[in-house]
Amino acid sequence: MSTPAQLDSALGAWLDANDQRLHDDLFEFLRIPSVSARSEHTKDVRAAAEWLHRHLARIGFATETLDTPGHPVVLAEWRKAPKGAPTVLIYGHYDVQPAEPLELWTSPAFEPTIRNGNIYARGSVDDKGQLWLHVAALEAHLAARGTLPVNVIVLAEGEEEVGSEHLAPFIEQHKQRLACDAVVISDSTMFAPGIPSILSSLRGLAYLQVDVTGPNSDLHSGMYGGAVVNPATALARIVASFHDAEGRVAIPGFYDKVRPFPDAVRKGMRALPFDEAEFTQHLAVDALGGEPGYTTLEKLWTRPTCEVNGLLSGYTGEGAKTVLPGQAMLKVSCRLVPDQDPAEIGRLLEAHVRKVAPKGVTVKVTHLHGGNAWRAELEGPLYDAAARALHGAFGRAPVITGEGGSIPVVGDFASILGAPVLLIGFGLPGENAHAPDEWISQENFRKGMRAVASLWDELRT
Ligand code: BES
Ligand code: ZN
Repeated sequence: MSTPAQLDSALGAWLDANDQRLHDDLFEFLRIPSVSARSEHTKDVRAAAEWLHRHLARIGFATETLDTPGHPVVLAEWRKAPKGAPTVLIYGHYDVQPAEPLELWTSPAFEPTIRNGNIYARGSVDDKGQLWLHVAALEAHLAARGTLPVNVIVLAEGEEEVGSEHLAPFIEQHKQRLACDAVVISDSTMFAPGIPSILSSLRGLAYLQVDVTGPNSDLHSGMYGGAVVNPATALARIVASFHDAEGRVAIPGFYDKVRPFPDAVRKGMRALPFDEAEFTQHLAVDALGGEPGYTTLEKLWTRPTCEVNGLLSGYTGEGAKTVLPGQAMLKVSCRLVPDQDPAEIGRLLEAHVRKVAPKGVTVKVTHLHGGNAWRAELEGPLYDAAARALHGAFGRAPVITGEGGSIPVVGDFASILGAPVLLIGFGLPGENAHAPDEWISQENFRKGMRAVASLWDELRT
């Protein structure tokens, strides 16, 4: 059980006095449509990097925007803490997911709007709002007290939502410069409103595209159907073979490297007040599915999956068209857990697809991206300090949660820099990340700033 940290009154007063300006700045950041997946937004992605660069420089950080083969990395440093103070690296991403379908947004995706105490905009919670609350807390220290109790490196990337392909090589290349005692990331959610959370795990990812090609063009389904293998049917057969009848993944070797979660962690997860009926109802489904033998939270946080992300084939327009499609396409991704290796899972999946595909079609498999799963060591001064800081800001001790999503670079931070990684997110269930009407609660935005501002004091040696 943690004791609550008391936020320094100068920091609290500064954050109160500057609340409107910090909101205004965030709104400006959110108006930049930095969609990393779309080439037509390349300039906007850079504009978001430059916006962030300007603000980090303004608050007193030595800031650079460094090019990568993809979108740029913003790297900012402040290293004037007293001798012997620890160095922390704050990571976040300034890119966002595409906003489509635009017509499902209540207010425009890139026109931030406050409703019911929530800020609605693409990137509000994932991750611009959570990155910005860190910058605001750093500014509070530098503006209100003229200094920071720790040395700080801010590393913000623009490719998280497309797999962070260029970030691991970047970290490797700048390993000396990025050396630190702790990595702190806010790009996740709390377990429930009012319950601050420390994240203990993330799943990894292996993402593939499968193109199935049959005859050299679409065909009349009466003239050819029955004698020619239909690529859509072939693909359906492939997809159906991914799971057994109970819901386990049926790709040979898929579970071989899975390292079970420690009993203590599973026990902790079972003790969390999770309401399965409410979860089911919120999604408007009549039942949940998945692998037998695990609770819903265990399925989401501790078990690997194989999910179809997209399927495309044949005629899908109005009315009927009798056609035998020439092609079919599948996007499929596996969420992974320690110690599954994304490249190995990609190979197993590809081999399985090739084995199951019937003669008469050709299959092309493209490996799109991958990332390692991650599990935290939940002990040591960093976690104790985080627990005190969260307790102080939210008025109750944090719970330990897991997460089904992925932040590909987290495993790389741990392995390349050898530093412990702390994930304290301020999103909430139902925040609509990646979906229309994404939001962050203003209360969490404000408490988040206070929590991370006091974290730096709590970490001081
Ligand atoms: N912020 C999310 C990851 C996340 C989601 C953490 C929910 C905790 C709770 C991140 O921006 C994200 O969406 N990552 C992608 C990674 C992928 C594109 C490689 C994901 O998980 O799909
Ligand atoms: Zn994110």
